[in-house]
Amino acid sequence: MKFTASCAKLADLKSDCLILPTGSQPKNSAESIDKSYNKIIASMIKSKEFTAKSGEVMLLNLPESPIKRLILLGTDGVSSTQQIIKAVSKAAAALAKTKSTNALWINEGLSDDSQWLAGVVAQTISTATYSYPKSSKTPPQSLKSVTFWTANQTASKAAKAGLKFGAAVGKGMNTARQLGNLPANICTPNYLADQAKALGELDHSQVKTTVLNRAEMHKLKMHSLLSVAAGTDTPPKLIVLNYQGSSAKTKPVVLVGKAVTFDSGGISLKPGRGMDEMKFDMCGGASVLGVITALSELQLPINVVGIIPATENMPNGQATKPGDVVTSMSGQTIEILNTDAEGRLILCDALTYAAKFKPDTVIDIATLTGAVIGALGKETSGLVSNHEQLAEQLINSGTRSGDRAWQLPLWEEYDQLLSSNFADMANIGGPQAGTITAGCFLARFTKDYKWAHLDVAGTAWVSGKSKGATGRPVPLLMEYLRHKSGLDCD
Ligand code: BES
Ligand code: MN
Ligand code: ZN
Repeated sequence: MKFTASCAKLADLKSDCLILPTGSQPKNSAESIDKSYNKIIASMIKSKEFTAKSGEVMLLNLPESPIKRLILLGTDGVSSTQQIIKAVSKAAAALAKTKSTNALWINEGLSDDSQWLAGVVAQTISTATYSYPKSSKTPPQSLKSVTFWTANQTASKAAKAGLKFGAAVGKGMNTARQLGNLPANICTPNYLADQAKALGELDHSQVKTTVLNRAEMHKLKMHSLLSVAAGTDTPPKLIVLNYQGSSAKTKPVVLVGKAVTFDSGGISLKPGRGMDEMKFDMCGGASVLGVITALSELQLPINVVGIIPATENMPNGQATKPGDVVTSMSGQTIEILNTDAEGRLILCDALTYAAKFKPDTVIDIATLTGAVIGALGKETSGLVSNHEQLAEQLINSGTRSGDRAWQLPLWEEYDQLLSSNFADMANIGGPQAGTITAGCFLARFTKDYKWAHLDVAGTAWVSGKSKGATGRPVPLLMEYLRHKSGLDCD
């Protein structure tokens, strides 16, 4: 998808589809478009067919005119970031349903920050036009280009930067969604490794990929990670991507993404209902690939290392059994009381490995606990951190991107729930506060650096009729990295 900014004379512009945000009293561009189209907006409002309430969408076909379709987007009562993003998504969804090849978005009525809004528009249209290719018969998306129209040159210049950023974030989200949606018989650890290698093979790529196999992980003493891979015949992989956008001296941000390509629970087998959704248990890893994709697109001046421990969690004859004790790469021993609490077992070794990159900051992303859905529902990702300022920065990045996270505490009282009679710790902390005890487990492996953990079990995919991966938390992470790189800070 091509995104451009323009401040040319409105009357001269042609388009397959014009998206016009307006209140119930059309002003400025809305007023002039209304005039040139025979007061069509005013009459829709008068007849109450369109009330212009926040996020209301109306599609009008105008076959004989320079603008073939008009999408009216209600702006009355829109104020918060979330409301604006929701309104933009409604219009983007309506646009994606049309057969337009190009579209024109009028920057009016939603936000004065045209850079930010252009970013939201580009990201949202990019993701709205994604569809999972069910077979070779799936028709390609018709929309090819979008122009973001602003009233003046200053706004247009700002919009241009926003469009570039939003398009890259959208592309990264779609990468993450596609990997998430692929079934576990295709999207194996090896498949993810191939995708990571492909990122390193693009022209002018700033990405270097290395992949460790079972034997190499064994040499590194990653026995916790390998205990999860013990029960599957599919080879596990530890995927490492090195994105270098800044001088080699700059300490990297390390992103660690859980990629359990299928989580059956292992010997602590999950119940059958909804088990298919455990193909999404690699969405943390997919989000890391999404971020690296977006960074490559933007060439953001920052260094980022992605570490993706990838394996299935299956119950074959070699599988880890409840009560087994393993020694992690850190030397700490773990009593595995539940083989379904496998995410933390692969993450802890990946987090120990992360120290080798002398990180500025480490953030892990994981579909770690069902409990986070009990705590925060499907809207908000869980966040824990050993560094208050980092937690605050991530919360702010979530707010600005509309991809929100909220913090839970890591207090000692919770950590004590992990005690074991037979090892330094157990891998579960009992029935309560599951997201926090999982966080406390990880915190025992991240003492040497600034660290945060995002639990995206509730946000990385949706269930039900529109079942599919969401691409979250790529927007939050990209906003955080953009800010950190010092690019376009405002
Ligand atoms: N991948 C699951 C977490 C999950 C569950 C995500 C449901 C989304 C929906 C994770 O590996 C897991 O099974 N966690 C257990 C932990 C428990 C055994 C302490 C859980 O949440 O039930
Ligand atoms: Mn599990
Ligand atoms: Zn899992």
